[in-house]
Amino acid sequence: MAKLENSKLSVIGAGGVGTATAYAALLRGSARTVALYDVATQKVEAEVADLAHGSQFFHGRVIGGDDLAVVDGSDLVIITAGARQKEGQTRLDLAGANIRLLEQIVPGVVEHAPDAIIVLVTNPVDVLTQVATDLAGLAPGRVFGTGTMLDSSRLRWRLAERLGVSTSSIHALIVGEHGDTEFPLWSQAFVGPVPIADYVPVDAPPLSHDEFDRIAEEVKNAAYHVIAGKGSTNYAIGTTAARLAEAILGDEHVVVPVTSVLHDYRGIHGIALSVPSLVGGRGVEQVLDAPYDDDELRLLRDSAAAIAETRAKFS
Ligand code: 2OP
Repeated sequence: MAKLENSKLSVIGAGGVGTATAYAALLRGSARTVALYDVATQKVEAEVADLAHGSQFFHGRVIGGDDLAVVDGSDLVIITAGARQKEGQTRLDLAGANIRLLEQIVPGVVEHAPDAIIVLVTNPVDVLTQVATDLAGLAPGRVFGTGTMLDSSRLRWRLAERLGVSTSSIHALIVGEHGDTEFPLWSQAFVGPVPIADYVPVDAPPLSHDEFDRIAEEVKNAAYHVIAGKGSTNYAIGTTAARLAEAILGDEHVVVPVTSVLHDYRGIHGIALSVPSLVGGRGVEQVLDAPYDDDELRLLRDSAAAIAETRAKFS
């Protein structure tokens, strides 16, 4: 694993999510080299040029093209390519088309970047993480997905706005499917050392009971609202993927909710969904158990069942 300062991040897919990921990674200095790959020659060359034209103002180097050789020697490959949700579609509706795409992409990625960690962004990210894990045949933890790391950021933003507290002082996670069965781990949500249900804001009333449910629904449906307004989401997922790249390339050993294939996790086996995980240079290094309450455990298993049902349709 190269050190971050001489690391190579490759992004598969030069669509809205892939270019937002590359752009965020360049501005944040997430990797020394950022490579962008897409089969659409004119599109990927234009995106690389447009990113490179700003090189004076960031430290990294950006390359790319329509030849998969651009990912040669990557330390990390982030897969964003695939069909995206349209209005009225769920993420799980995309499974068939995007599984077929992965079957074409993953073997070539492993061939060109045999030492890379592979991170899935493409939806349905939990199902595709399972498929890519099987296709890649790499050591456990080397293939995983952004999962509910984005949803957790949405939750922390929403709570920060409501409570008047910095997102950095709010500990709150969304776990499960990155999709309609996701849910907040309210039993493990804190403002600093204070359980969130006990926190009394400086300039606002405490969270009421039904607000917890309302905020959970808002976060779960956030993407649908953005898609209705602008056709897709890209900035928040791009920033999330760039931040995750730093955790890997910087070997940070940070706990984040990402999706990986779980084994004997509270009765869940062989299914990928997001739970708190330790992420560093080797990918997912540890999956952390949490003191789920009975409701949370039921919701976690419901999430696993929804993912398993979709995966089974395309096995
Ligand atoms: C998102 O949550 C659509 O999965 C994408 O922004």
